[in-house]
Amino acid sequence: MTRFVPVKDLVVPLPQELKGFTLAPSPYSPRLLQLTFSHATVEAFLAAMAEWPVQALEYKSFLRFRAAKLLDELCAGTLQPVLINTLVDRDSGGLLITPQGLDRVAQADDMVKLATAVAHLFGRSNYDAMSGQYYARFVVENVDNSDSYLRQPHRVMELHTDGTFVEQDTDYVLMMKIDEQHMEGGNSLLLHLDDWEQLQAFNSHPLARRDMRWTAPPSKKVDKDVFHAVFDTDNQGRPIISYIDQFVQPRNFEEGNWLTDLCESLETSQHKLSVPVPVGSFLLINNHFWLHGRDRFTAHPGLRRELMRQRGYFTHAKVLRNPRQ
Ligand SMILES: [Fe+2]
Repeated sequence: MTRFVPVKDLVVPLPQELKGFTLAPSPYSPRLLQLTFSHATVEAFLAAMAEWPVQALEYKSFLRFRAAKLLDELCAGTLQPVLINTLVDRDSGGLLITPQGLDRVAQADDMVKLATAVAHLFGRSNYDAMSGQYYARFVVENVDNSDSYLRQPHRVMELHTDGTFVEQDTDYVLMMKIDEQHMEGGNSLLLHLDDWEQLQAFNSHPLARRDMRWTAPPSKKVDKDVFHAVFDTDNQGRPIISYIDQFVQPRNFEEGNWLTDLCESLETSQHKLSVPVPVGSFLLINNHFWLHGRDRFTAHPGLRRELMRQRGYFTHAKVLRNPRQ
């Protein structure tokens, strides 16, 4: 079962056999792997975590790593090496993770615990300024008055990466579906940088490596602008991207039009994946070479969708040339 993880450039050795979970290519792309935790693993993990409510994980950071250890032990130590290797594997770097039996909004706290355990096997989730926690839960409803497209249902959220306007490294993004009512459409959209037809053209353009200004709207509670280029090079010389259409502030005509071309090129790629994420499942992607977005969905007065996200840095393997952590 480990044959879907690359055998070259391993960060840590892979187990011969997987325990407590299965791994296979997803139906959406061979790059996106489907990891499924068995009922038994999920139940045993939740039983082991029963003494710690989510609040304990919020207050004591170290318990997030203990949750990770408990989950890996239930998988006989075979989970951690698969996660560490897959997330930095340039040919993959993406997982759709399904914990069997976790599929109702009433289990939201259990979902947070399990996602936290997974994330802390290969990384540490950053402080999320929007929620004041290491994770953020947020609701999308039929009507929205917010200042970005994050919670606005009836339009596409264009492809982007996260962490463009913060100073912390954002190596991974975890996006979990906690609830969904009266939802039609709204699939997650993904694009692997190496599948983008015009990567070469944009990456070699003179503006690709020019520092640009990135600024967040008030709801993000980030008051300082940051400066970086759209493209960079990873620690092995491959192109990586840090880009979001809504928060980049072009300095002039030239930058503004190049960014518009870039946005159009990404949005019209034929290799965009459209992935339905069931309640209780989550996407986990390398944020340096996977872009993500969300498809539009149909208006409905009873529409409700709740999501949970974690973003953070890798603790075992690095992608950036000069990581901060
Ligand atoms: Fe995002």
